[in-house]
Amino acid sequence: MRIALTGANGQLGHALQRVLGPTHELVLLNHDALELGKPTAVETIVQTQAELVLHSAAYTNVDGCARDPALAYLINGLGTRYVALACQQLNVPMVYFSTNEVFAGNQRQPYLEYDPPAPINAYGRSKAAGEAAVRELLTRFYIVRVAWLFGGERNFVRTVLRLAHANPQGEIRMVADEIGSPTYADDVAEAVLKLIEMPFYGTYHLVNDGACSRYELAQEILRRGGYPDVRLKPTTLYEYQRDSTPPPCSVLANIAGAALGLQLRSWQEALYDFMHRIQMQSATPMANPQP
Ligand SMILES: NC(=O)c1ccc[n+]([C@@H]2O[C@H](COP(=O)([O-])OP(=O)(O)OC[C@H]3O[C@@H](n4cnc5c(N)ncnc54)[C@H](OP(=O)(O)O)[C@@H]3O)[C@@H](O)[C@H]2O)c1
Repeated sequence: MRIALTGANGQLGHALQRVLGPTHELVLLNHDALELGKPTAVETIVQTQAELVLHSAAYTNVDGCARDPALAYLINGLGTRYVALACQQLNVPMVYFSTNEVFAGNQRQPYLEYDPPAPINAYGRSKAAGEAAVRELLTRFYIVRVAWLFGGERNFVRTVLRLAHANPQGEIRMVADEIGSPTYADDVAEAVLKLIEMPFYGTYHLVNDGACSRYELAQEILRRGGYPDVRLKPTTLYEYQRDSTPPPCSVLANIAGAALGLQLRSWQEALYDFMHRIQMQSATPMANPQP
Protein backbone atom coordinates (compact mmCIF):
# COMPACT_ATOMS: atom_id res chain seq x y z
CA MET A 1 0.00 0.00 0.00
CA ARG A 2 1.16 3.55 -0.72
CA ILE A 3 1.26 5.29 2.67
CA ALA A 4 2.05 8.92 3.47
CA LEU A 5 3.79 9.33 6.84
CA THR A 6 3.89 12.69 8.63
CA GLY A 7 6.50 13.28 11.32
CA ALA A 8 8.75 10.79 9.54
CA ASN A 9 11.81 12.01 11.48
CA GLY A 10 10.17 11.75 14.89
CA GLN A 11 10.49 8.97 17.43
CA LEU A 12 7.37 7.12 16.30
CA GLY A 13 7.99 8.10 12.68
CA HIS A 14 11.30 6.23 12.69
CA ALA A 15 9.69 3.15 14.25
CA LEU A 16 6.90 3.21 11.64
CA GLN A 17 9.53 3.43 8.90
CA ARG A 18 11.44 0.45 10.34
CA VAL A 19 8.35 -1.73 10.66
CA LEU A 20 6.17 -0.72 7.69
CA GLY A 21 8.99 0.11 5.27
CA PRO A 22 9.68 -3.47 4.12
CA THR A 23 6.07 -4.22 3.10
CA HIS A 24 4.63 -0.83 2.14
CA GLU A 25 5.60 2.04 -0.12
CA LEU A 26 6.16 4.93 2.29
CA VAL A 27 6.02 8.56 1.22
CA LEU A 28 7.97 10.31 3.97
CA LEU A 29 6.74 13.76 4.97
CA ASN A 30 9.19 15.29 7.39
CA HIS A 31 8.88 18.84 8.71
CA ASP A 32 10.80 20.23 5.70
CA ALA A 33 8.27 18.71 3.31
CA LEU A 34 5.11 19.51 5.30
CA GLU A 35 4.19 22.45 7.52
CA LEU A 36 1.15 21.42 9.54
CA GLY A 37 0.36 24.94 10.64
CA LYS A 38 -0.46 26.06 7.08
CA PRO A 39 -3.49 25.22 4.90
CA THR A 40 -1.06 24.25 2.10
CA ALA A 41 -0.57 21.03 4.12
CA VAL A 42 -3.79 19.73 2.52
CA GLU A 43 -2.41 19.98 -1.02
CA THR A 44 1.00 18.61 0.01
CA ILE A 45 -0.67 15.45 1.30
CA VAL A 46 -3.13 15.15 -1.59
CA GLN A 47 -0.20 15.25 -4.00
CA THR A 48 1.28 12.11 -2.46
CA GLN A 49 -1.68 10.12 -3.91
CA ALA A 50 -1.44 7.93 -0.82
CA GLU A 51 -3.92 5.14 -0.10
CA LEU A 52 -3.59 5.74 3.66
CA VAL A 53 -2.13 8.55 5.77
CA LEU A 54 -0.28 7.93 9.03
CA HIS A 55 -0.28 11.21 10.97
CA SER A 56 2.39 11.05 13.64
CA ALA A 57 3.74 14.63 13.42
CA ALA A 58 2.85 16.89 16.32
CA TYR A 59 4.11 19.66 18.51
CA THR A 60 5.09 17.31 21.35
CA ASN A 61 6.87 19.71 23.69
CA VAL A 62 4.23 19.73 26.42
CA ASP A 63 5.81 22.60 28.35
CA GLY A 64 6.18 24.55 25.10
CA CYS A 65 2.47 23.94 24.44
CA ALA A 66 1.65 25.35 27.91
CA ARG A 67 3.67 28.48 27.17
CA ASP A 68 2.11 28.94 23.73
CA PRO A 69 -1.34 27.24 23.61
CA ALA A 70 -2.23 29.02 20.35
CA LEU A 71 0.76 27.43 18.59
CA ALA A 72 -0.17 24.03 20.08
CA TYR A 73 -3.71 24.40 18.73
CA LEU A 74 -2.42 25.57 15.32
CA ILE A 75 -0.16 22.54 14.85
CA ASN A 76 -1.95 19.75 16.71
CA GLY A 77 -5.57 20.84 16.31
CA LEU A 78 -5.79 22.74 13.05
CA GLY A 79 -2.83 20.86 11.53
CA THR A 80 -4.63 17.57 12.13
CA ARG A 81 -7.77 19.06 10.55
CA TYR A 82 -5.71 19.74 7.39
CA VAL A 83 -4.49 16.15 7.34
CA ALA A 84 -8.06 14.89 7.76
CA LEU A 85 -9.25 17.19 4.95
CA ALA A 86 -6.55 15.76 2.69
CA CYS A 87 -7.75 12.23 3.53
CA GLN A 88 -11.30 13.35 2.75
CA GLN A 89 -10.19 14.61 -0.67
CA LEU A 90 -8.18 11.46 -1.37
CA ASN A 91 -11.04 9.35 0.02
CA VAL A 92 -8.60 7.28 2.08
CA PRO A 93 -8.42 6.27 5.76
CA MET A 94 -6.26 8.11 8.29
CA VAL A 95 -4.35 7.00 11.36
CA TYR A 96 -4.06 9.79 13.92
CA PHE A 97 -1.70 9.28 16.85
CA SER A 98 -3.10 10.81 20.01
CA THR A 99 -2.18 10.75 23.66
CA ASN A 100 -3.01 9.75 27.24
CA GLU A 101 -2.94 13.50 27.93
CA VAL A 102 -6.45 13.90 26.48
CA PHE A 103 -7.57 12.58 29.89
CA ALA A 104 -7.60 14.43 33.21
CA GLY A 105 -5.82 11.63 35.06
CA ASN A 106 -7.91 11.99 38.19
CA GLN A 107 -9.23 8.42 38.40
CA ARG A 108 -7.53 5.32 39.75
CA GLN A 109 -8.72 2.87 37.11
CA PRO A 110 -7.34 2.80 33.55
CA TYR A 111 -9.10 4.86 30.88
CA LEU A 112 -11.14 2.99 28.29
CA GLU A 113 -11.19 3.96 24.62
CA TYR A 114 -14.67 5.46 24.86
CA ASP A 115 -14.13 7.49 28.04
CA PRO A 116 -14.74 11.14 27.14
CA PRO A 117 -11.59 13.25 26.77
CA ALA A 118 -11.19 15.91 29.48
CA PRO A 119 -7.71 17.40 29.03
CA ILE A 120 -6.16 19.55 31.75
CA ASN A 121 -3.29 21.11 29.79
CA ALA A 122 -2.71 22.89 26.48
CA TYR A 123 -1.02 19.91 24.82
CA GLY A 124 -3.91 17.61 25.76
CA ARG A 125 -6.48 20.16 24.60
CA SER A 126 -4.72 20.58 21.25
CA LYS A 127 -4.49 16.80 20.70
CA ALA A 128 -8.16 16.39 21.71
CA ALA A 129 -9.01 19.10 19.14
CA GLY A 130 -7.15 16.97 16.57
CA GLU A 131 -9.24 13.93 17.57
CA ALA A 132 -12.44 15.94 17.22
CA ALA A 133 -11.45 17.13 13.72
CA VAL A 134 -10.76 13.54 12.61
CA ARG A 135 -14.12 12.33 13.97
CA GLU A 136 -15.94 15.26 12.38
CA LEU A 137 -14.48 14.95 8.89
CA LEU A 138 -13.89 11.24 8.34
CA THR A 139 -15.73 7.98 8.69
CA ARG A 140 -12.68 5.80 8.04
CA PHE A 141 -10.11 6.60 10.72
CA TYR A 142 -8.08 4.98 13.46
CA ILE A 143 -7.36 7.23 16.44
CA VAL A 144 -4.43 5.49 18.14
CA ARG A 145 -3.68 6.83 21.60
CA VAL A 146 -0.17 6.07 22.84
CA ALA A 147 1.65 7.16 26.01
CA TRP A 148 5.11 7.71 27.52
CA LEU A 149 6.85 6.69 24.28
CA PHE A 150 10.41 5.42 24.14
CA GLY A 151 12.29 4.08 21.14
CA GLY A 152 14.04 7.06 19.60
CA GLU A 153 16.90 9.40 20.36
CA ARG A 154 15.22 11.70 22.85
CA ASN A 155 13.10 10.08 25.52
CA PHE A 156 12.83 9.35 29.24
CA VAL A 157 14.91 6.14 29.07
CA ARG A 158 17.86 7.82 27.38
CA THR A 159 17.64 10.80 29.75
CA VAL A 160 17.82 8.60 32.86
CA LEU A 161 20.76 6.64 31.40
CA ARG A 162 22.59 9.84 30.51
CA LEU A 163 22.12 11.27 34.01
CA ALA A 164 23.30 8.01 35.59
CA HIS A 165 26.30 7.75 33.30
CA ALA A 166 27.32 11.34 34.04
CA ASN A 167 27.24 10.68 37.78
CA PRO A 168 27.08 6.95 38.70
CA GLN A 169 27.30 7.74 42.43
CA GLY A 170 24.89 10.66 42.24
CA GLU A 171 21.28 11.34 43.04
CA ILE A 172 18.30 11.56 40.67
CA ARG A 173 14.95 12.92 41.82
CA MET A 174 11.96 11.35 40.14
CA VAL A 175 8.22 11.97 40.43
CA ALA A 176 6.52 9.07 42.20
CA ASP A 177 2.89 10.19 41.91
CA GLU A 178 2.61 10.41 38.12
CA ILE A 179 1.39 7.05 36.80
CA GLY A 180 1.22 6.01 33.17
CA SER A 181 1.71 3.36 30.52
CA PRO A 182 5.32 3.32 29.19
CA THR A 183 5.23 2.27 25.54
CA TYR A 184 7.84 1.14 23.02
CA ALA A 185 7.38 2.93 19.70
CA ASP A 186 8.37 -0.22 17.76
CA ASP A 187 5.61 -2.23 19.49
CA VAL A 188 3.08 0.44 18.49
CA ALA A 189 4.36 0.28 14.91
CA GLU A 190 4.02 -3.55 14.85
CA ALA A 191 0.42 -3.28 16.08
CA VAL A 192 -0.37 -0.52 13.54
CA LEU A 193 1.02 -2.70 10.74
CA LYS A 194 -1.72 -5.24 11.57
CA LEU A 195 -4.43 -2.71 12.43
CA ILE A 196 -4.37 -1.00 9.03
CA GLU A 197 -5.15 -4.33 7.38
CA MET A 198 -8.43 -4.48 9.30
CA PRO A 199 -11.41 -2.25 8.48
CA PHE A 200 -12.19 -1.93 12.20
CA TYR A 201 -12.09 1.85 12.32
CA GLY A 202 -12.32 3.70 15.63
CA THR A 203 -10.34 4.60 18.72
CA TYR A 204 -7.55 2.44 20.12
CA HIS A 205 -5.21 2.47 23.11
CA LEU A 206 -2.04 0.82 21.81
CA VAL A 207 0.19 0.83 24.87
CA ASN A 208 2.44 -1.75 26.47
CA ASP A 209 0.75 -3.80 29.15
CA GLY A 210 0.96 -2.66 32.79
CA ALA A 211 1.53 0.69 34.44
CA CYS A 212 4.05 2.39 36.70
CA SER A 213 5.16 5.71 38.11
CA ARG A 214 8.01 7.76 36.66
CA TYR A 215 9.96 6.71 39.77
CA GLU A 216 9.34 2.99 39.17
CA LEU A 217 10.25 3.34 35.49
CA ALA A 218 13.53 5.06 36.39
CA GLN A 219 14.21 2.35 38.98
CA GLU A 220 13.84 -0.35 36.31
CA ILE A 221 16.04 1.57 33.84
CA LEU A 222 18.81 1.98 36.44
CA ARG A 223 18.59 -1.68 37.49
CA ARG A 224 18.73 -2.94 33.92
CA GLY A 225 21.43 -0.42 32.98
CA GLY A 226 23.64 -1.53 35.89
CA TYR A 227 23.70 1.59 38.04
CA PRO A 228 23.21 0.25 41.61
CA ASP A 229 24.86 3.26 43.23
CA VAL A 230 22.66 5.95 41.78
CA ARG A 231 20.39 7.16 44.59
CA LEU A 232 16.88 7.53 43.26
CA LYS A 233 14.85 9.95 45.39
CA PRO A 234 11.07 10.12 45.09
CA THR A 235 9.51 13.52 44.61
CA THR A 236 5.97 14.69 43.86
CA LEU A 237 4.25 16.43 40.98
CA TYR A 238 3.57 19.29 43.39
CA GLU A 239 7.28 19.67 44.20
CA TYR A 240 8.39 19.28 40.57
CA GLN A 241 6.85 22.42 39.17
CA ARG A 242 6.88 22.77 35.39
CA ASP A 243 4.96 24.82 32.84
CA SER A 244 2.60 21.99 31.94
CA THR A 245 0.42 20.07 34.39
CA PRO A 246 0.54 16.36 33.53
CA PRO A 247 -2.45 14.13 34.25
CA PRO A 248 -1.43 12.34 37.48
CA CYS A 249 -2.87 8.91 36.64
CA SER A 250 -3.51 8.39 32.93
CA VAL A 251 -3.10 4.65 32.46
CA LEU A 252 -4.71 3.49 29.19
CA ALA A 253 -6.63 0.21 28.92
CA ASN A 254 -6.28 -1.55 25.57
CA ILE A 255 -9.71 -3.16 25.13
CA ALA A 256 -10.51 -2.52 21.45
CA GLY A 257 -7.07 -3.57 20.18
CA ALA A 258 -6.91 -6.66 22.39
CA ALA A 259 -10.28 -7.77 21.00
CA LEU A 260 -8.61 -7.89 17.56
CA GLY A 261 -5.54 -9.73 18.91
CA LEU A 262 -3.46 -6.56 19.12
CA GLN A 263 -2.14 -6.91 22.67
CA LEU A 264 1.25 -5.38 23.39
CA ARG A 265 3.71 -7.15 25.70
CA SER A 266 4.53 -5.82 29.19
CA TRP A 267 6.32 -2.50 29.43
CA GLN A 268 9.20 -4.24 31.25
CA GLU A 269 9.80 -6.69 28.38
CA ALA A 270 9.60 -3.85 25.88
CA LEU A 271 11.97 -1.71 27.94
CA TYR A 272 14.59 -4.48 28.14
CA ASP A 273 14.31 -4.99 24.39
CA PHE A 274 14.86 -1.29 23.72
CA MET A 275 17.77 -1.10 26.17
CA HIS A 276 19.33 -4.16 24.56
CA ARG A 277 19.02 -2.47 21.17
CA ILE A 278 20.69 0.76 22.24
CA GLN A 279 23.34 -1.18 24.12
CA MET A 280 24.19 -3.02 20.89
CA GLN A 281 24.37 0.28 19.03
CA SER A 282 26.51 1.71 21.86
CA ALA A 283 24.53 4.90 21.32
CA THR A 284 23.77 5.41 25.00
CA PRO A 285 26.38 4.16 27.45
CA MET A 286 25.37 1.74 30.19
CA ALA A 287 27.56 0.81 33.15
CA ASN A 288 26.96 -2.88 33.59
CA PRO A 289 23.86 -3.96 31.70
CA GLN A 290 21.87 -6.64 33.56
CA PRO A 291 20.07 -9.50 31.80
N1 LIG B 1 6.40 11.05 22.91
C1 LIG B 1 5.44 10.64 23.71
O1 LIG B 1 5.67 10.24 24.86
C2 LIG B 1 4.01 10.63 23.23
C3 LIG B 1 3.01 10.30 24.14
C4 LIG B 1 1.68 10.27 23.71
C5 LIG B 1 1.37 10.59 22.40
N2 LIG B 1 2.36 10.94 21.53
C6 LIG B 1 1.97 11.27 20.16
O2 LIG B 1 2.63 10.36 19.29
C7 LIG B 1 3.00 11.00 18.09
C8 LIG B 1 4.49 10.81 17.82
O3 LIG B 1 5.24 11.34 18.91
P1 LIG B 1 6.84 11.35 18.87
O4 LIG B 1 7.33 11.09 20.24
O5 LIG B 1 7.30 10.52 17.72
O6 LIG B 1 7.10 12.89 18.55
P2 LIG B 1 8.46 13.59 18.07
O7 LIG B 1 9.60 12.66 18.20
O8 LIG B 1 8.49 14.91 18.75
O9 LIG B 1 8.20 13.79 16.52
C9 LIG B 1 7.24 14.69 16.06
C10 LIG B 1 7.56 15.03 14.63
O10 LIG B 1 6.63 16.03 14.20
C11 LIG B 1 7.35 17.00 13.44
N3 LIG B 1 6.69 18.30 13.53
C12 LIG B 1 6.63 19.13 14.60
N4 LIG B 1 6.00 20.25 14.30
C13 LIG B 1 5.61 20.13 12.99
C14 LIG B 1 4.91 20.98 12.09
N5 LIG B 1 4.49 22.19 12.47
N6 LIG B 1 4.72 20.55 10.83
C15 LIG B 1 5.17 19.33 10.42
N7 LIG B 1 5.84 18.50 11.22
C16 LIG B 1 6.06 18.89 12.50
C17 LIG B 1 8.72 17.06 14.08
O11 LIG B 1 9.65 17.56 13.16
P3 LIG B 1 10.86 18.51 13.70
O12 LIG B 1 11.47 17.80 14.86
O13 LIG B 1 11.74 18.62 12.51
O14 LIG B 1 10.20 19.79 14.10
C18 LIG B 1 8.97 15.60 14.45
O15 LIG B 1 9.62 14.90 13.42
C19 LIG B 1 2.58 12.47 18.25
O16 LIG B 1 1.35 12.65 17.60
C20 LIG B 1 2.41 12.65 19.73
O17 LIG B 1 1.45 13.63 20.04
C21 LIG B 1 3.68 10.96 21.92
